Amino acid sequence: MKYRSVEGLGCAWNAQGLLVKNPITRSTITTEPVTVALLHHFRDWNTVARAAEEVGYDEESVTEAVRSLHSLGFLTAEDDPEEGVSSALDPWRPWSHEGTSFHFMTRDAPFVETTDHIREELTTQTPPPLFKDYPDADRLFLPRRQRRLNAPYDEVLYGRRTHRDFAAEPVDRETFSTLMGAVFGLKDFIDAKQFGSLMLRTSPSGGSRHELEAYVAVSDVTDVDPGIYHYGVREHSLELIREGDFRDELTLMCNSQSGVGQAAFSVILTAVVERMSAKYRHPRAYRVMLMNAGHLGQTFALTATALGLGPFHTAAFNDSRVEELIGVDGVSETALYVLSAGLPKTDERGEVLLSNPPMSLASSRASRFDTGRD
Ligand SMILES: Cc1cc2nc3c(=O)[nH]c(=O)nc-3n(C[C@H](O)[C@H](O)[C@H](O)COP(=O)(O)O)c2cc1C
Repeated sequence: MKYRSVEGLGCAWNAQGLLVKNPITRSTITTEPVTVALLHHFRDWNTVARAAEEVGYDEESVTEAVRSLHSLGFLTAEDDPEEGVSSALDPWRPWSHEGTSFHFMTRDAPFVETTDHIREELTTQTPPPLFKDYPDADRLFLPRRQRRLNAPYDEVLYGRRTHRDFAAEPVDRETFSTLMGAVFGLKDFIDAKQFGSLMLRTSPSGGSRHELEAYVAVSDVTDVDPGIYHYGVREHSLELIREGDFRDELTLMCNSQSGVGQAAFSVILTAVVERMSAKYRHPRAYRVMLMNAGHLGQTFALTATALGLGPFHTAAFNDSRVEELIGVDGVSETALYVLSAGLPKTDERGEVLLSNPPMSLASSRASRFDTGRD
């Protein structure tokens, strides 16, 4: 009989020791390194006798280990019934172990109630600050006067498109300030009972933790010196981190995409992990953080559209380099999303240029629309 390690196993160490995890079945064993060595010898179909010889243990003990690894779902036997798991996993394969376990290890993860103990900790001990500030930084207070956001909702909703080409013209400071305030600024506070007062933004946020911070690389905004700034939520200010135009550097960090390279400014969204994990102590909270970033991304796109700007989003960036640029450590605070905007580029007739025009017959022929017919 031949056996093979199941796909996508992952290893980690924690206080209990070495863990081997099967992300698909979500089973985990605490074990010794020799188990990993044994699984390694089953990376291709192998017999117990050969694996025992390769790993240098007697066949009897390896037989015992293989039996239990098989029953726990870490090894497949040649005569195991094909349960379709393998082919169901096909669409996940391009994402390798990292992408697969990222999803499956948090699937069905037990939701840990915010217990009295956590509540007490959050309310009696010093909780993580709700705001991040750079008290010693040079700062620009943005104008409080906001542009009206009264464009018809249907025009905004249906008019939003991704822009990758921008006019070489500055965005005016009031428009920029309106966008920053409407998307990342303070809308209000709520009485969150034992959790005290919590901030609201125009986008929803799991538990109203608002763990997301906005940094902005300004290149071309009227009366705002080019630089990397942190957006000070409480003050509606820009706190200077580095002076200068870093658009070209940021563009290289974002796969040289014109959506960043031609934009008047780009917002780098980060998550302050502790603000979220102090309350939500289960792995699904990580997913919530990503959803929160998505909400801010959509509000950014719609608000930019309402203000006559073109929005661009990307997750295609080098995390470490972007984090270095804005001066965060990438661990306690980590970059999640880059959102850019500028005035849309127009052609000689004044029509907005979009990289993806409406569909044509040719593009329709190249597509596969599932019509539900045989
Ligand atoms: C999370 C996210 C990441 C994206 N990343 C990129 C990107 O890296 N490069 C790009 O050109 N467009 C990117 N886009 C834009 C999409 O390609 C675009 O939304 C899609 O083509 C639909 O076009 P529309 O936004 O004009 O409706 C991204 C959009 C989202 C929501």
